[in-house]
Amino acid sequence: MMLMTDIDALRQQRSGWARAGETVALVPTMGNLHAGHLSLVEQAKAAAQRVIVSIFVNPLQFAPGEDFDQYPRTLDADLALLEPLAPDVVFAPATDTLYPNGHPIATEVVVGQLAHQFCGEFRKGHFVGASTVVNLLLNLTTPDIAIFGQKDYQQLLIFRRMAADLHIATEIRGGATVREADGLAMSSRNQYLSADERKRAPLLHTCLCEAAQLLCDGERDFTALEAAATARLLEAGFETQFFRVLSPALTEPDAGCDEFALIAAALLGRARLIDNVQVRAGQVLPNGA
Ligand code: PAF
Repeated sequence: MMLMTDIDALRQQRSGWARAGETVALVPTMGNLHAGHLSLVEQAKAAAQRVIVSIFVNPLQFAPGEDFDQYPRTLDADLALLEPLAPDVVFAPATDTLYPNGHPIATEVVVGQLAHQFCGEFRKGHFVGASTVVNLLLNLTTPDIAIFGQKDYQQLLIFRRMAADLHIATEIRGGATVREADGLAMSSRNQYLSADERKRAPLLHTCLCEAAQLLCDGERDFTALEAAATARLLEAGFETQFFRVLSPALTEPDAGCDEFALIAAALLGRARLIDNVQVRAGQVLPNGA
């Protein structure tokens, strides 16, 4: 496992693999790794001969007033967690290395309307920053496959659309959401929860699963499902930003639909929790399709 902070060294390594005809998978992260990230690295190892994990807390994807300064930066612990999985390269550039001309940078990647809806409505500029840095990381590493967690379902769809629209020759894959034993989706931001909030936090997942089960049982009053979940979350102290029953493409479903993506975001104390559950062929898929 090589730690690289330099773009030239990364490009040289990548060219060597290309000459040897080896396939490459990239797992982009912002560090502070947990079992969810590690499962993506395992998936990458099974899918390609060479694996790059990037660790970069991207300032472009944090709106003013968000947690960019507080976001946990734990490179030594991250490297210790990665060591047993032995990815070939951990690319952990400094901000000035990725953005030598300063940031924000002049070039932005905006993936249509979807960048401004749902999470994008509450985190202004977030998806523009995320697609811009992922485009940049894909340019630097030209991977055959890039793997992203399905917990960030909207983000995954945005990256897929970006790759399709820009003819990026990388297959964008989703990795299953990894959950704590009580159902809470793993996230670096869970550490912002107090002990009492942590006990209540799994309710978001419970509400998504219960609404998904009702859809499987034939319920088609989407507004009623959304309102009931929002009320229940409010009672438990969540400030729900959205709880939506949508199609898998995140468009409004029609009554004849039998495939759904249920997506939600809610504030609980200092933490902003997001989660989603999928419905396919009459089955609830809590960790992604
Ligand atoms: O999902 C994340 O951690 C980030 O949005 C990503 C994909 C690493 C881009 O900074």
